[in-house]
Parts: sequence; structure tokens; C-alpha cells
Amino acid sequence: MKINIHEMIKRPLKYVVIAAMYKDEWLMVKHRDRTTYEIPGGHIETGETPLQAAERELYEETGALSFELIAVGDYSVERDDACNYGRLFYAKIDEMGPLPESEIIDVKTIQPEFKWTYEKIQPILLQYVKNHLAIREIELRDDQELYDLFHHLDQETKFMMYEKNERQTTVEQVRHRIEMIQKTGVMYVVDDNELGGFIMMNRGSCNRIRHVGYIVIGMKMSLAGQKFGTLLFNRIFNYAKLNHLHRLELTVMTHNLSGVSLYKKMGFQIEGIKKDAMLIDGEYIDEYHMSKLIEVESE
Ligand SMILES: CC(C)(COP(=O)(O)OP(=O)(O)OC[C@H]1O[C@@H](n2cnc3c(N)ncnc32)[C@H](O)[C@@H]1OP(=O)(O)O)[C@@H](O)C(=O)NCCC(=O)NCCS
Repeated sequence: MKINIHEMIKRPLKYVVIAAMYKDEWLMVKHRDRTTYEIPGGHIETGETPLQAAERELYEETGALSFELIAVGDYSVERDDACNYGRLFYAKIDEMGPLPESEIIDVKTIQPEFKWTYEKIQPILLQYVKNHLAIREIELRDDQELYDLFHHLDQETKFMMYEKNERQTTVEQVRHRIEMIQKTGVMYVVDDNELGGFIMMNRGSCNRIRHVGYIVIGMKMSLAGQKFGTLLFNRIFNYAKLNHLHRLELTVMTHNLSGVSLYKKMGFQIEGIKKDAMLIDGEYIDEYHMSKLIEVESE
């Protein structure tokens, strides 16, 4: 069995799952026929949008009356030959009412001794949502930490632009860069007690290229493989849809297999090869030029 998280695009979705938080605690629910607990959720009914299904399920299964719902991504569960998709939401509940009549008979905040109903699926989905919550837009106060992150990445990876100790930028210049990106695009960071990764997108400045966004991503090795890359791209795609960016571009060294694999998975296509685009340790390295077109969709 393989669980995965994806971009939210139009595809047949069967389920919604809502990681729901009330007063800083995650809520779990108990079905009347089970002894185990699970994250609220259920089937999308005919004629419902995923958002409507999530609103209905959250109310029916927890009694939540007032809440904010955010779509985090589409997840898939692959078993043998079948692959089912659902949409994963985060809910911040402000007001709870009595539990309505349904197959759910108990709602509790998560406890370490709980047995999960779908123990191979739901803890992973909850972790995706926690990781999603660790992602936020860059702020000016992040100047020193972003400076530290850039320097950390210069030391750690040869897949980015700067060589070790080559970067001469000051914290003041990083602060200026944050100001610029806030004007000309967007930058999201992984704030896991300290900044651990970023994705930034600059939009074209002239009218004829204002629909184009150029993306750079970087992540500390200690955070790799935890779906932060996927979640950062999902944020960028949402931003692009809301801000009418139609074409997204990036470049990647052809031997950066994890990078190429992530970008392909996120829907980027190779448009061409920039021959000998970089000189690393005395060797010329090719880069792929990759792009993805974004369609504005309605729910
Ligand atoms: C490349 C990078 C952004 C990936 O981010 P990540 O958070 O590790 O990626 P995710 O956990 O979201 O994984 C998503 C996909 O990326 C690919 N991927 C991630 N780690 C991989 C690895 N070690 N080997 C192969 N593919 C990998 C896979 O396709 C994966 O999908 P899967 O889990 O279904 O196999 C990150 O490793 C990184 O910042 N590396 C160093 C700097 C860098 O290369 N920057 C890009 C310069 S262009």
C-alpha cells in the first residue's frame, strides 16, 4: 500500500478527510461499530463539491458549528490494482455544538493510547497537515534566519547556485530581497522551529511576461522526504491560480534526480536542455528547463 499527496486538480475524488483542531488539540471520532478512533471524514456524495462534503462531514461527525476549512492537497491510497483519491482538509474549529445524530458516538482530543481505525493511513495524513501548518509566507523578521538557511544550503548541496562560502550577501541585503519578493512574487518557508526550507516565485515584470513565474526551491537535508517539497509546490499552485500566473518555470541540474523526480511529479515537463549551463568542481553540467501551465479552475 502506498499513500501519497498530490496537487489539487480536477480528478475523481471519493473521500474527504478533515484534520480538525479545536482549542489547539486535534479531534478524533469514534464510529458506533468500532473500538478505534479516526480523523473525521467520509464519502463525497453525488452533487457535492469536496468542500461541501468536508463542511457536512465535519458538522455531522464532530458537531462543529463555526470553523475555517483549508484544503491541503489530494491524497491517494494505492492498494494492489486500485487507487482511490480523496481531498485532505485542515479545519480550525471556533465553536462546537452538541454531536448530531449519526454513526459517530464519541469525539475526543487525540490521546497517545488511542488505536487508529486506519493506522497505516490516517497518522500519515495528520502528519501532512501538521507539515502544511509549518509552511507560511516569509516575513521581514525572518531576515537573519533566511540568511542562515541560504548559508546552510550553500554548504550542504551542490544542486543550487552558490558554492560554499561564495555568497557575500549581508543580512541587510537578504532583508531587501524579502521586501522585493513580497512585491514581485511570493516566498513560502518551512518554519519547523527554525527555517528549514523555502520556495520562491518571481513573476515577470513586463506586461508580456506577467503571467510567468520563475521558481526556486531549497530544503535542508534533514527535512527531505517528508513531503515539504510537495506541500510547498501546492502553495505555489494555489498562489498562481489566485494571481493569474499561467506559466511556471524552473531549471534543475540533469543529475539532480530527486529534484527532477519531484518536479515531474508536480506536473512540470522538460522543455529542453541547457548544455554546460553550470561549472561544478571543474566539470560542465547540463540543466533541464522545465515548465508547467496552470489552468484556472472552479471547484
Ligand atoms: C529536491 C527537494 C526540493 C525535494 O523535496 P522533498 O521535500 O524531499 O520532496 P517530497 O518529500 O515532497 O517528495 C516528493 C517527490 O520528490 C521526489 N524525491 C524526493 N526525495 C527523493 C529522493 N531522495 N530520491 C528520488 N526522488 C526523490 C520523489 O518523486 C517524491 O515523490 P514520492 O515520495 O512519491 O517518491 C529537496 O530534496 C531539496 O531541497 N534538495 C536540495 C536542494 C535542491 O536540490 N534544490 C533544487 C534545486 S533545482
